[in-house]
Amino acid sequence: MTEQAKRYPVPETIRERAWVDEAAYRTRYQTSVESTNAFWLEEAKRLDWFSKPQTAGNVSFSPDSVSIKWFEDGTLNACYNCLDRHLDTKGDQVAFHWEGDDQAKTDSITFKALHERVCRFANGLKDLGVKKGDTVTLYMPMIPEAVVAMLACARIGAIHSVVFGGFSPDALANRIVDSGSRVVITSDESVRGGKQIPLKENVDEALDRPGTEVVEHVVVVKRTGADIETTERDRWYDDVVADQSAECPAEPMKAEDPLFILYTSGSTGAPKGLLHTTGGYLLYASMTHHDIFDVHDDDVYWCAADVGWITGHSYIVYGPMANGTTSVLFEGVPSYPDHGRIGEIIDRYGVTILYTSPTMVRSLMAQGDHIMDSSSRQSLRVLGSVGEPINPEAWQWFYRVIGNSQCPIMDTWWQTETGGVMITPLPGATELKPGSATHPFFGIQPALYDNEGNELEGATEGNLIIKASWPGQARTIWNNHERFVQTYFSTFDDVYFTGDGCRRDEEGYYWITGRIDDVLNVSGHRMGTAEIESSLVAHEAVAEAAVVGFPHDVKGQGIYIYVTLNEGVTPSDELRSELVKWVRKDIGPIATPDVIQWAPGLPKTRSGKIMRRILRKIAANELDGLGDTSTLADPSVVDDLIDHRAG
Ligand code: PRX
Repeated sequence: MTEQAKRYPVPETIRERAWVDEAAYRTRYQTSVESTNAFWLEEAKRLDWFSKPQTAGNVSFSPDSVSIKWFEDGTLNACYNCLDRHLDTKGDQVAFHWEGDDQAKTDSITFKALHERVCRFANGLKDLGVKKGDTVTLYMPMIPEAVVAMLACARIGAIHSVVFGGFSPDALANRIVDSGSRVVITSDESVRGGKQIPLKENVDEALDRPGTEVVEHVVVVKRTGADIETTERDRWYDDVVADQSAECPAEPMKAEDPLFILYTSGSTGAPKGLLHTTGGYLLYASMTHHDIFDVHDDDVYWCAADVGWITGHSYIVYGPMANGTTSVLFEGVPSYPDHGRIGEIIDRYGVTILYTSPTMVRSLMAQGDHIMDSSSRQSLRVLGSVGEPINPEAWQWFYRVIGNSQCPIMDTWWQTETGGVMITPLPGATELKPGSATHPFFGIQPALYDNEGNELEGATEGNLIIKASWPGQARTIWNNHERFVQTYFSTFDDVYFTGDGCRRDEEGYYWITGRIDDVLNVSGHRMGTAEIESSLVAHEAVAEAAVVGFPHDVKGQGIYIYVTLNEGVTPSDELRSELVKWVRKDIGPIATPDVIQWAPGLPKTRSGKIMRRILRKIAANELDGLGDTSTLADPSVVDDLIDHRAG
């Protein structure tokens, strides 16, 4: 039997105590799509509401009137749900075991202690003039203060916009300006793999850019104690919280009041700020977390993502905290001080649930099985994978080596736009097939369309769309509803278009095949080819650039760039490394090009459109499948590109 065809039935030990078994999945799923509103109103009882909603969805996917609302008449506070409501029963339970990059640096914070810290900082933010509806940008390492800052914003009704700490000053500046943030929260430095990254210096550089004058204060957490420059607008975090009361009432928010903005890349243009609101998002994050990881009170859960991404928002902060789950918060990287780190953390805290990315699995797999010898990982019960397709070999390795062949793997498909997981197995309900995200979560109605918008039935492959709304869905793009409508609701009528391709097998299992637009997925990080191209053409030597993805053993996809230089510029290895540095500096290290090929010409149609299909094939070295090149303005450029393939 091929690896791909192997199946993994639900382990008996898991089924016995699972919240959802196979029969329950079937009945509840049926109810969720047949009586959607009643189903979600019932589920809404998972949250504590200041006033309970009487209505569930109020949604239009019609392009001229796209509007998505859930539980409109309910009021609640996300921070209250993550902290206050646990205090009576779980106040002394650990909310986060924090482990620093240096493993000697740790901290275990109870729900009660976290509540106090959040209240003090929330009061501090109020003193800095932050009000309900204001936007606050966070540019922070994976330290407890990042969680404190997110929850403190939620507590007072401010909208947080977290920018991943690996982004450049320019990328940060664009996000600060677009979101209109009046306060930025950062730290002196961050530490990853023993190296210091100058976050505060990056903020200062960002705030030199035009448009950032809206920023009144920068709050700085002392992480390393580095000697940093300070300006008038800077406030030390310690001073902001000093003398603040540990009481701060949680602001009653309407379910549809914004909770956060999170920027992500599209196929064209600048990154877009997806807006998530309070009630529907929180319910969907907590319910998916609860059911997909089959979370019980004695679990120790670890999502090894960064709070700068949607996975961190939904499955480090809001989902697990709303469920009162004890989690691990890890500042470092899996390879430091050596590749045994992940296993050692699992053993140290008795982690029962590990949620990570295929890239991390592949990077460990590349080291060989022995790197797991320094740990037993016997505590593990359930594993999860997110962010990119997991190839069956990596799935098997994750299962056999990390999970000791005892733990089912939840391959969860979702997006920044979806707020929470959409297609996924459930540990007690789903027979697994390595590489398949399996079945839709409750309330989710996926379908496959051909390019003309006809629904395809049975075993087939097509464009993945979702037919009806769910509470966790993003409501709009900040400042640009038109772009929201255009991106997700104009390709096909009355459905949400995901941008992903997908196959469905004879048994109805879904297999995500990857993006069908010009979005790259490098190590699970989403990037627009247009962003990288516009960075390159801003360099004086570059006339034109075309970026495509190519298969990469560890990162899933790598970045392959074809560059046409300006007249008179001579290609050289020095120029190549200069361009690599240029992109890293402009966007951030996650956009580091893997391959740059000099291209005297790019394959274009007679109307001037770059034929990316051909560039992708050349980058992947699939030279047999180039297809018809006769419609090109100059077919000979293809031969030249093939002759000079790089990498
Ligand atoms: O292409 C899909 C891929 O990641 C994209 C969403 O990226 P982002 O918004 O950054 O969110 C990542 C974390 C949820 C999707 O359009 N993707 C995500 N999960 C999977 C996946 N592809 C295959 N399998 C998955 N499990």
